[in-house]
Amino acid sequence: MAKSAFLLVFDIFFILMLSLSLWSAAANEDRKATLPGLEYSPSSHHISILQDVVKSSSVANLLLRSYKRSFNGFAANLTNEEAKRLASMKGVVSVFPSRILHTLTTRSWDFMGLKETVTRIPAVESDTIIGVIDTGIWPESASFKDEGFGPPPKKWKGVCKGGKNFTCNNKIIGARFYSSISPSSARDEMGHGSHTASTAAGNIVKNTSFFGLGQGTARGAVPSARIAAYRVCDGNGCESKDILAAFDDSIADGVDVITISIGGINPLLFHEDVIAIGAFHAMVKGVITLHAGGNIGGFHTITSVAPWIVTVAASTIDRQFIDKVVLGNGKTQNGFSVNSFNLNGTKFPVVYGKEVTTSCSEDQAKFCQLDCLDSSLVKGKIVLCDRIKGNFIASLAGAMGSIMRNEFENLSAVVTLPASALNKTNYDVIKSYVNSTKKPEAGILKSEVIKDATAPIVATFSFRGPNSVVPDILKPDLSAPGVNILAAYSPLGTPANDDSDTRHVDYSIATGTSMACPHAAGVAAYVKTFHPDWSPSAIKSALMTTAWAMDQSKSRGGEFAYGSGHINPIKARDPGLVYETLKDDYIKLLCSIGYTLDRIKAISGDNSSSCPPSYQKVPPKDLNYPSMTASVPPKESFTVNFLRTVTNVGLANSTYKAQVSPNLGLEVEVVPDILSFRSLQEKKSFNVTVTGKSLKQPSMVSASLVWSDGIHIVRSPIVVHTYPPVRVVPHVLLKN
Ligand SMILES: *[C@@H]1O[C@H](CO)[C@@H](O)[C@H](O)[C@H]1NC(C)=O
Ligand SMILES: *[C@@H]1O[C@H](CO)[C@@H](O)[C@H](O)[C@H]1NC(C)=O
Ligand SMILES: *[C@@H]1O[C@H](CO)[C@@H](O)[C@H](O)[C@H]1NC(C)=O
Ligand SMILES: *[C@@H]1O[C@H](CO)[C@@H](O)[C@H](O)[C@H]1NC(C)=O
Ligand SMILES: *[C@@H]1O[C@H](CO)[C@@H](O)[C@H](O)[C@H]1NC(C)=O
Ligand SMILES: *[C@@H]1O[C@H](CO)[C@@H](O)[C@H](O)[C@H]1NC(C)=O
Ligand SMILES: *[C@@H]1O[C@H](CO)[C@@H](O)[C@H](O)[C@H]1NC(C)=O
Ligand SMILES: *[C@@H]1O[C@H](CO)[C@@H](O)[C@H](O)[C@H]1NC(C)=O
Ligand SMILES: *[C@@H]1O[C@H](CO)[C@@H](O)[C@H](O)[C@H]1NC(C)=O
Ligand SMILES: *[C@@H]1O[C@H](CO)[C@@H](O)[C@H](O)[C@H]1NC(C)=O
Repeated sequence: MAKSAFLLVFDIFFILMLSLSLWSAAANEDRKATLPGLEYSPSSHHISILQDVVKSSSVANLLLRSYKRSFNGFAANLTNEEAKRLASMKGVVSVFPSRILHTLTTRSWDFMGLKETVTRIPAVESDTIIGVIDTGIWPESASFKDEGFGPPPKKWKGVCKGGKNFTCNNKIIGARFYSSISPSSARDEMGHGSHTASTAAGNIVKNTSFFGLGQGTARGAVPSARIAAYRVCDGNGCESKDILAAFDDSIADGVDVITISIGGINPLLFHEDVIAIGAFHAMVKGVITLHAGGNIGGFHTITSVAPWIVTVAASTIDRQFIDKVVLGNGKTQNGFSVNSFNLNGTKFPVVYGKEVTTSCSEDQAKFCQLDCLDSSLVKGKIVLCDRIKGNFIASLAGAMGSIMRNEFENLSAVVTLPASALNKTNYDVIKSYVNSTKKPEAGILKSEVIKDATAPIVATFSFRGPNSVVPDILKPDLSAPGVNILAAYSPLGTPANDDSDTRHVDYSIATGTSMACPHAAGVAAYVKTFHPDWSPSAIKSALMTTAWAMDQSKSRGGEFAYGSGHINPIKARDPGLVYETLKDDYIKLLCSIGYTLDRIKAISGDNSSSCPPSYQKVPPKDLNYPSMTASVPPKESFTVNFLRTVTNVGLANSTYKAQVSPNLGLEVEVVPDILSFRSLQEKKSFNVTVTGKSLKQPSMVSASLVWSDGIHIVRSPIVVHTYPPVRVVPHVLLKN
């Protein structure tokens, strides 16, 4: 076989998942120690598998990574042919290409009611470890100092392998980086990883701000918790083979919670999605994974679809950054930006992007696209650009400032020169002023912080459901603050994450579902300190059923934007009832959506999984999930029912009554509608029947079910929709 014929696939890495049985022989470290000679070495086994397929003497350098701590598999540099041959070998359950994913302060905690003085269990909190899979961490940040911290918890089995000049302490107790990372270090060069880690578990640091903006105390949800940083991303993105390795390590290292603010662009089938696979293994070991869903905004965009993950949407907090533009005629227009620059009240001439280009068409230049603005024509001037990102190009071209059209409604982006982004109405006012006078000029003020009484609203950019892989499971699960969050940063990164920015800061403002995810992870850790023995699904249920109901009219997409609602840390501590979902329930779900046993094994890594006909009969809507969703055919009346079981974790003797929020289009019946408990951990089942008139396509109707004993409020959204299924394209390689 001429390898040159496969040049293109040469630089693709393939990941193989082997069934757990091979690995289980190696799992027991003690056995390894007492029975030398019988020890199983995954790496040498992986090499021998490779040798069978690749007709080359030196296969060792093709083996890019062996996964051996929490599951068995490896990544290797192969041709498509070799990968296909491997896929058909016994014991190999899945082969797919490795791909590049991307990374998707703290007024937010007060906004959510998690005050600095909140009740805590300090000893347990200090034994809680948050694993952060991200761009690394800045170990010298004030948010990660270890003053007052004792040695790492006894259960910690990880290491500090952060590379040269990287020292852990009793706050950052572990650090790793992976093979693709350049330079070889767990040190965060971008800021993203330090930001997410400090949002979840950063120390309490007083008087932080971004050039005086958003001044206040920065802190994580669980400031006494420990952090383990797994760096899987650099300037080129995040490789899926490294992400899987980070799950493998973090689970074995003993973290309690995993937060991962990384995602791809398209949803993937579970057996090809390293985050779904990694999180499944974490779930089996009692570790909860929280995941940012993505920043694309439209319907059906959600890429985090697995029910064993907590998928987090991003919403606003009650603090908004606005930025005023003062025109030559004395009128003022409001715009949005995080603008730390001060023009001292001076006004400058205004030009439109399309009038100051010599190299681009007017249609490109009006958006201020890359290399379109002519430096000599913009110097000392303020440039109008029809998109927010235009400010970076104006800045590179040497403009004095920029006024942009805000295509994201109220988004306040960090700008790299004096700049403000206006909604269409206000931007058009400026454009007509510019056209109405010979010498248009404007001034741009430094940003101001105002109270946003409309919060929380799910941000325009936050991904929306429905779930493309399992339409009967609602995604996202909940929403958390992800807009203009102030948190720790890397002084090597730039606040705007763009070449046009030359500033370096210790604390910065960032926006994205990436910022929402660690808020939810911090709350999950907080809840876990009160209930160390709870399963990931019980914690997830607590976060979901106690979430604040959000206003459907304000967040486009309703439940598809915010899931169960806005996370509520204090209530989540004491949910009353939980919907528990265990490994077998998820296996049933996979069986029922038509997964073959091989594919299920790829996800579970479990030899013993099986798919009897009784499993295949449980429809996905009957997964014991804390929300209830069904997709139904359009233009026909419908009746669907949901079977659920709740576990009492509130008061031993308690009686819960069902209440359904009124919805004109839906009739909801709950049988039984009273649940009486006599003990803790007691389980009770019920049946929810939802009837409605025909819906057009695509559309969605929702209601909610509340169980209450007078003390606890256990709320689940009920969603019925007619969105057509989206075909999720599997990767090229399937077993034949
Ligand atoms: C896994 O499967 C193999 C062969 O199918 C069998 O020999 C082995 O006992 C199984 N291991 C477990 C843990 O079930
Ligand atoms: C994979 O193999 C190709 C061809 O031998 C080589 O050019 C490439 O650098 C390898 N990739 C890695 C990550 O080792
Ligand atoms: C280690 O990193 C810190 C932070 O970037 C830097 O200040 C220091 O100079 C570095 N030391 C060495 C020996 O590179
Ligand atoms: C807060 O920080 C600013 C500079 O960042 C400084 O000027 C001010 O004195 C500090 N305030 C307090 C109370 O420490
Ligand atoms: C505004 O004033 C500050 C402080 O005097 C100065 O550093 C800055 O350069 C001035 N900016 C402009 C655009 O004149
Ligand atoms: C945008 O902000 C204005 C106040 O500045 C508010 O009235 C409006 O509801 C906001 N819209 C969205 C979508 O957040
Ligand atoms: C733009 O914002 C202004 C208030 O500053 C508001 O009156 C107007 O309706 C908004 N326009 C759009 C298109 O949102
Ligand atoms: C001014 O009007 C001209 C002609 O209608 C148009 O081409 C141009 O884009 C306008 N400029 C602005 C800033 O709106
Ligand atoms: C619950 O109530 C029953 C009957 O009223 C009583 O016998 C039992 O002791 C109570 N259990 C607890 C834990 O309070
Ligand atoms: C749930 O209720 C529906 C509608 O009344 C009924 O058809 C179904 O059999 C019930 N399921 C169970 C398990 O009780």
